[in-house]
Amino acid sequence: WPFYAPLIFQINKLKREKNAVILAHNYQTPQIFFGVADIVGDSLQLAIEATKVEADTIVQCGVHFMAETSKLLNPSKTVLIPDSRAGCSLASSITAEDVLAMRAQYPGVPVVTYVNSSAAVKAVTDVCCTSSNALAIVEAVEGDTVMMIPDQYLAQNTAKKTKKKIVTWAGACEVHETFTADDIAELRAAYPGAKIIAHPECPPEVIDAVDFAGSTSGMIDWVKTERPAKVVMVTECSMSDNVAAETEGVAFLRGCNICPHMKRINLENILWSLHTGTEEVTIPQELMAPARAAVEKMIGFST
Ligand code: 13P
Ligand code: SF4
Repeated sequence: WPFYAPLIFQINKLKREKNAVILAHNYQTPQIFFGVADIVGDSLQLAIEATKVEADTIVQCGVHFMAETSKLLNPSKTVLIPDSRAGCSLASSITAEDVLAMRAQYPGVPVVTYVNSSAAVKAVTDVCCTSSNALAIVEAVEGDTVMMIPDQYLAQNTAKKTKKKIVTWAGACEVHETFTADDIAELRAAYPGAKIIAHPECPPEVIDAVDFAGSTSGMIDWVKTERPAKVVMVTECSMSDNVAAETEGVAFLRGCNICPHMKRINLENILWSLHTGTEEVTIPQELMAPARAAVEKMIGFST
């Protein structure tokens, strides 16, 4: 922390001078999460908060699709991402052309797209969803068959809770797809009595074996409410670091992976981003209205 202090000081000073706010995802490192963020949350919370920003500039500390979502929802603001290479294996797994081909194959079937997708894919979508509202959105759309793209595991995990038929796409999160039921069994053997909780981007065999599954904020709230003596958060590693700072008495055991995309954002490039006004996130004009409609429809179903 002493090493970070000058950077944190500079960022917070520049933020005020430039009338900027920092929106940070729960996977950002503690120095970002606690040191410079104005608003933290999961994807849905950040999207909702983006609609309320009055400052001139949003610096999105997260991955590119999150910055695009902020721009879609509050287009008059300048949205900056400190490193535009911060992608997502789900967002890069599918193109708008792929979605149109699926639509041709399943005429009339509504398309529910995970927000972990590009603006171009959102633009050919009926409604977006996040990990916290996936089931509610699937239940809310019309019809007994739904396309749920691009995360096959979020789709399979949701399919277990609904009577609707779910058609999916073969995308996966590179951070969560590697966890297996054997990993959970090994964690249970290594840490007797520990609670194990996971993100629904994990394969169903993992979700079936854990004590709780939910969005990143869902997992944080679960730990804050349940206060288990020992817990393993089967997700991105910064989650445990951040919650640990706010939950004295809970022992956090390691069972996590790093998201290389989330970790592209650091204090140095946040400061640079504020200083130079780069890298600005823009969305082609023709995508703006349809992509925004899909995200706004989701927020309408969720609030
Ligand atoms: P949440 O919406 O649960 O924060 O998930 C975003 C994400 O990218 C998880 O890998
Ligand atoms: Fe994408 Fe997975 Fe990283 Fe989340 S953790 S941003 S889903 S690659």
